[in-house]
Parts: sequence; C-alpha cells; structure tokens
Amino acid sequence: SLVSHELKTPLSSMKISAEYLESDANIVPADRKEILQIILRNIDRQTRLINDILDLSKIEAGKTELKLDIIGIRKIADASFENIKQVALKKDISIIIDVPDDLSPVMADMEKLIIVVNNLFENALKFTPAGGSIILSAKEDADGIEVNMKDTGIGIEKEKLEKIFDKFYQVDSSSRRKTGGCGLGLSISSGIIRAHGSVIHVESALGKGSTFIFKLKKG
Ligand SMILES: Nc1ncnc2c1ncn2[C@@H]1O[C@H](COP(=O)(O)OP(=O)(O)O)[C@@H](O)[C@H]1O
Ligand SMILES: [Mg+2]
Repeated sequence: SLVSHELKTPLSSMKISAEYLESDANIVPADRKEILQIILRNIDRQTRLINDILDLSKIEAGKTELKLDIIGIRKIADASFENIKQVALKKDISIIIDVPDDLSPVMADMEKLIIVVNNLFENALKFTPAGGSIILSAKEDADGIEVNMKDTGIGIEKEKLEKIFDKFYQVDSSSRRKTGGCGLGLSISSGIIRAHGSVIHVESALGKGSTFIFKLKKG
C-alpha cells in the first residue's frame, strides 16, 4: 500500500547507508560523517512520518480529543510565526500578521490550532519563491472568526484543488526530495478543523498564489 511504501523509503536508505559503513573499515572520516548525516536525516524524516500517520489515524477514527479553551487567534499567530520566522528570513519571504488585538476569542484547542497554522505557514513558505510574501489575517463577523493564510506562491491548478487535502497527495511528488513533507500536512489540518466543527478550503489558481481559509466559532 501507499502507507507501507512511504514508511519503507527512509528505512531502505538507512539500511543501505549502515550496510556500507559496516562493509568497509577504511572509509575516510569525511565520508563516514556524510553517511552518518544521511542516516540521521532519515531517522528524523521517519520519526516525523510516523507521528503524522499516528495523528492522522486518530483524527480519522474520530478519536481526537480536543482540549477546548477560550483563546485568542493573535496568540496562535504569534506562536506560529516564532516557529517559522527563521525560514522566512533565510528565504527572503516577508510575513505580515494582520490579526487585530481586539478580535473576539474562539473556542478551540490551542495546541492543535498551532499545528494547523504551522502547516499552512510551512506550505506557504515551501511553495512561494524568494522575494514573495505571506499574509496571515483574521477577521470577525456575526458567526465567527475567519482565518486566512494568503501567499504569492506558485498556486494550484483548478483540477487539483480538491485533491490536495487527500492523504499523501502532492501536486509535484518529486518536490518531496527537495522540500520534505510527504503529503499529510493538509489532511491532518483539515481533520483538526473538522473536529472543531468547521472546514478548511482553498482559493487558488496556477501562478496566482493561494489562500487557505477556515472559520471558527466565537468562544
Ligand atoms: N500554499 C501552497 N501553494 C501551492 N501548493 C500548495 C500549497 N499548500 C499545499 N500545496 C499543495 O498541496 C500538497 C499537499 O500539501 P501537504 O498536505 O501540506 O503536504 P506536503 O507539504 O508534505 O507536500 C503540496 O505538496 C502542494 O502540492
Ligand atoms: Mg505541508
């Protein structure tokens, strides 16, 4: 199945590398170090993948227990921004947070919502070329708070807009090697928002950037 293939890829890479280290006692230190780094990178990737798969299966089984609290979106935005600001700086992408301080709070699971906003930020960063920008904004109306993550990136063609929420789906699966990830972020995120009784949707066109939108009930 798709899942077992995904799980085996980093493992086979680690096995090949370890076998090589074992087969030859005369590998020069620089090469040894490089091979060990490959192994360590793959261990990290495997760990992330297993955690993502476990999260997703819990969500799919309807077993995500939300720790609901009354929380401000501003706090979530700031926490997520802290997590990704270095990457944004390095890639020369400007980030704008447009979340009013006096926005009504929402009833939500803080930790899970940070996972969602992190995923959307990470994607926006991955799929936006250097020099671009990302705007995280939130606004309020009578029935809730709407959160928007808008980027000036590569966009998504119309035919693929629904598919990107499927597990393991990536528009360009060869980007996996370049940018990491394995197509689970949006499945997890949409599952989390669904557990909150809402939905995530996307507005995008190829070459025109993307906006991910979800709405939460007021606390
Ligand atoms: N902001 C975005 N701009 C363009 N494409 C996106 C964006 N966010 C997601 N996608 C597309 O949706 C796919 C699935 O996203 P996700 O589930 O987060 O997986 P991953 O980030 O591991 O590839 C991505 O591989 C990409 O093709
Ligand atoms: Mg992702």
